[in-house]
Amino acid sequence: MNRPLGFDAQGLELPRPDADAIEHSARLVTAIVARIEESGGMIGFDEYMHMALYEPGLGYYSGSSIKFGAHGDFVTAPEISPLFGASLARQATALIAQGCGSRILEFGAGSGRLCGHILTALPELERYLILDLSGELKQRQQHYLRNCLSPEQFARIEWLSGLPAGFDGIVVANEVLDAMPVHLLSKQDSWLELGVGYDGQRFGWQTFAPGARVLDAIRGIESRLGQFPRDYRCEVNLNYAPWFQALAQSCERAAVIVIDYGYEQEEYYHPERRLGTLDCYYQHRSHGDPLVYPGLQDITASIDFDACADAAVASGFDILGLVSQRQFLLANGLLELAQQQSRDGNIHEQLALSQQVKTLTMPDEMGSRFKVLALKKNLELEMPAMRRGGDIG
Ligand SMILES: C[S@@+](CC[C@H](N)C(=O)[O-])C[C@H]1O[C@@H](n2cnc3c(N)ncnc32)[C@H](O)[C@@H]1O
Repeated sequence: MNRPLGFDAQGLELPRPDADAIEHSARLVTAIVARIEESGGMIGFDEYMHMALYEPGLGYYSGSSIKFGAHGDFVTAPEISPLFGASLARQATALIAQGCGSRILEFGAGSGRLCGHILTALPELERYLILDLSGELKQRQQHYLRNCLSPEQFARIEWLSGLPAGFDGIVVANEVLDAMPVHLLSKQDSWLELGVGYDGQRFGWQTFAPGARVLDAIRGIESRLGQFPRDYRCEVNLNYAPWFQALAQSCERAAVIVIDYGYEQEEYYHPERRLGTLDCYYQHRSHGDPLVYPGLQDITASIDFDACADAAVASGFDILGLVSQRQFLLANGLLELAQQQSRDGNIHEQLALSQQVKTLTMPDEMGSRFKVLALKKNLELEMPAMRRGGDIG
């Protein structure tokens, strides 16, 4: 393989991948370069991000690397503690008691841990459906869940290849929307979109005039918030609308719980956030260059919760609320659940539980940057956890 690799991650001080990983990345580079050549020398960043994460067999999520947990690149709430899933199970119990179907549909189930924790805490749940873009993750989820659940519990899980029809139940998406490709924009005299080219050595940035949908989206935001300064870089995510439309079509009656890191629009597009929110993760190091280590690092952007809520409402959902993860988990009994588990544990387990509670809820950890957006369709539901207690931020 003689393709240059994008491993001269100058100034980033990233650990060097092993030879197999470099070989794997080189195959993805070849595929992206072919796409760039086909497109006349450049592709939009959204297409680059899509290939880097989801190119079959080669993208970050479709490839075989370990992504989650201490040996991977980043840690999500279900990897931190089973208390996260146990709190969600409590919320699910309350929703089912109000008439929601006894089913969960989880998008992007990662390692499968959240599913395992919820089914353990809620053994009477009738069905647990998983829909993941990554076939490789599906195999890992099956392996993990077969080993950690009883055969009866395991038999309740079904892996889907597309959205179900007439779904009646609870939809959960933890850190899924942040993994959707975004368009990158830069404001100069006018708005420019960032694309990716290849100079025979490495990927590099190019600019082009944004298409109508991207321009409409950013102008809509500017008309609400005021003009952005020059040299301002940001993202727009055009995937919310089609995602919520498809979900609304699939749901007969549902409660939807979206958990992710992000901001309301005023904070997301704050004039001082001049470089946007794009973030890359490789072996627990976070940096801002998505063009290095293609296929080996995660690429994410924070969620614009106002755009999400607008897309959800336009698709036919009602908003139940937007609160911090801290408020949502505490209102769903996180501390009580931790105390219950603590009673049976030794001192080391008690300390570990207390650390897990801190990581999930402290404002300088996951407590306030992570938020919960809850929606409903065709149901009368009360969700006291979603009543705003003024701790968003
Ligand atoms: C950052 S990981 C989060 C995994 C897991 N939810 C967790 O919290 O550990 C993102 C996951 O979302 C999946 N994903 C991204 N877009 C998706 C979509 N449109 N439908 C289903 N899964 C999706 C990816 O394949 C990946 O499993």
